[in-house]
Amino acid sequence: MRGETLLVGLDIGTDKTNTLLAELGENNSLEIVGVGSAPSRGIKRGVIIDLEQAAEVVSESVGQAERMAGIQIDSAVVAVNGSHISSFNSQGVIAISGEHSEITENDIEKVIEAAQAGVIAPERELIHILPREFILDGQKGILDPLGMSGSRLEGKVHIVTGSATAIQNLLKCLEITEIEVDDLIFGNLACGNAILNKTEKELGVLLIDMGAGSSDISIFINDNMAYSSILPLGGIQVTNDLAIGLKATIEEAERLKIKYGNVMENYISPDEVVEINRESGATKEKVAKKFIVDIIEPRVHEIFSLIKEELERANYLNSITQGVVLTGGCALLPGIVDLAAKVFETNVRIGRPNYQGALSDLVNDPRFSTEMGLLEYALKASIVGSPRKNKRQKGISFLIKAISWLRDFF
Ligand SMILES: Nc1ncnc2c1ncn2[C@@H]1O[C@H](COP(=O)(O)OP(=O)(O)OP(=O)(O)O)[C@@H](O)[C@H]1O
Ligand SMILES: [Mg+2]
Repeated sequence: MRGETLLVGLDIGTDKTNTLLAELGENNSLEIVGVGSAPSRGIKRGVIIDLEQAAEVVSESVGQAERMAGIQIDSAVVAVNGSHISSFNSQGVIAISGEHSEITENDIEKVIEAAQAGVIAPERELIHILPREFILDGQKGILDPLGMSGSRLEGKVHIVTGSATAIQNLLKCLEITEIEVDDLIFGNLACGNAILNKTEKELGVLLIDMGAGSSDISIFINDNMAYSSILPLGGIQVTNDLAIGLKATIEEAERLKIKYGNVMENYISPDEVVEINRESGATKEKVAKKFIVDIIEPRVHEIFSLIKEELERANYLNSITQGVVLTGGCALLPGIVDLAAKVFETNVRIGRPNYQGALSDLVNDPRFSTEMGLLEYALKASIVGSPRKNKRQKGISFLIKAISWLRDFF
C-alpha cells in the first residue's frame, strides 16, 4: 500500500535544507517519491543560530517533498553536520573471561565502551563510535572478532562528537516542526556510504564534501571511517572573495560564480568577457572572465592545500591510495577535479548518488550525496529494524548496542 513504509532523509545545510522521501519498493529497493529543497536561513557553518528561522526552512523543505509525494511524514533520519563536530581515534582493551574464552557481543560492547571511557568532555555529545580494527592477543587487523577465541581484546575506534548545545538545538528545531528523529547520522558518514565504492572504502580514499559553510573531510580505509574533520571554509568564502574582488553584492557574486565560475585558467580564452552589476550603479559593466577565475582559483587551492597539510600532519596522506572523491555543491565548479588532482597529486573524481529510479535527474547531484546516504541508512533500518530508535532517550549504552549494526551498514 502507498505510504506504508516511508523512508525520509533530512539534511539541514548552510545553503540548502534538503529532504528526500522514499517508499520501500520491490526487492527492498528505494523508490524516491518526494524531493524538497529550501534555501536555508538561520544556519551558520552547519550550526543552527536561529531556531525559528531554521524550523521554518525545515517545514518548507519537508512540505515540498510531502506535496510532491502526496504523503505526510512524521519522522526522519537527520544528518548532523557543521563546524561543531570533532572526531578522534581512541582505543580500549579488556580481558576475556568465560568458559571457552570465546568473544561474545557483550565483550565487543565492553571493549568499545572502554575505548570511549573518559575521553568525551561533558560539553560534547557522542554521535558515533565506529570500530576500525580489533586486536586479539596481538593479532592485528580483525574486523569482526565475534566467536573468535582469545584472552586479550583491544578495540580501535573512531569517535565522532558534537557540541551538546548544537545537537540540542538541532533536536529542538525538529521538535518545533513536529518531526520525530529516527536517528542522527554524521553527514560525512552517510555521504561516504552513498557515493564511495567498495574498493575505495577498503583500500583508502579521501572524501571531501565541499558545501557552502564548510568542507567536511573523511578518510575511509578497511571499510571504516579512520579519520574525519571539518574545515570551516566552503563556497561562501569563494562567493565573498568574488563580491569583494568585483565590488559586487553577495547575490551578484553568487550568480557569477554559478554561471561563469571556473578554477582552471586554461579552460577559458583570455579575451572572454562577462557582464556584471556593480554594487554601486545600476549599469552593467564588462569584466574579463579570467578575472573571475583569478579570484576563485586561489581560494579553492587554499582549501585543498589546508586539507593536504592537515592529512600530512595526521599521517594519513599516504593512506589515500584510491585518490580523492569530491562532492557537495562546490564539486560543480568546472575545473575542480583538475585543481584537486594537481594539489593532492592523485586521481580525483566527482562523487554523486547513482540512483536509477524516478526523479534520478534531481537526485543524482553532488548536492544530494548526504541525503541519499541518509535514505540508504533508513532503508537498512526498515529492513532489519534499527536498534537505535529513540536512542537519545536511552543513552549511550543503547548506542553501543547499535555498533555492530552500524558496521554492517557502512
Ligand atoms: N554550479 C555551481 N558551481 C559552483 N558552485 C556551486 C554550484 N552550485 C552550488 N554551488 C555552491 O555550493 C555551495 C552549496 O553546496 P551544498 O548544497 O553542498 O551546501 P550545504 O550542504 O547547504 O552546506 P554545508 O554542507 O556547508 O552546510 C554553495 O556555496 C554554492 O555556491
Ligand atoms: Mg552539506
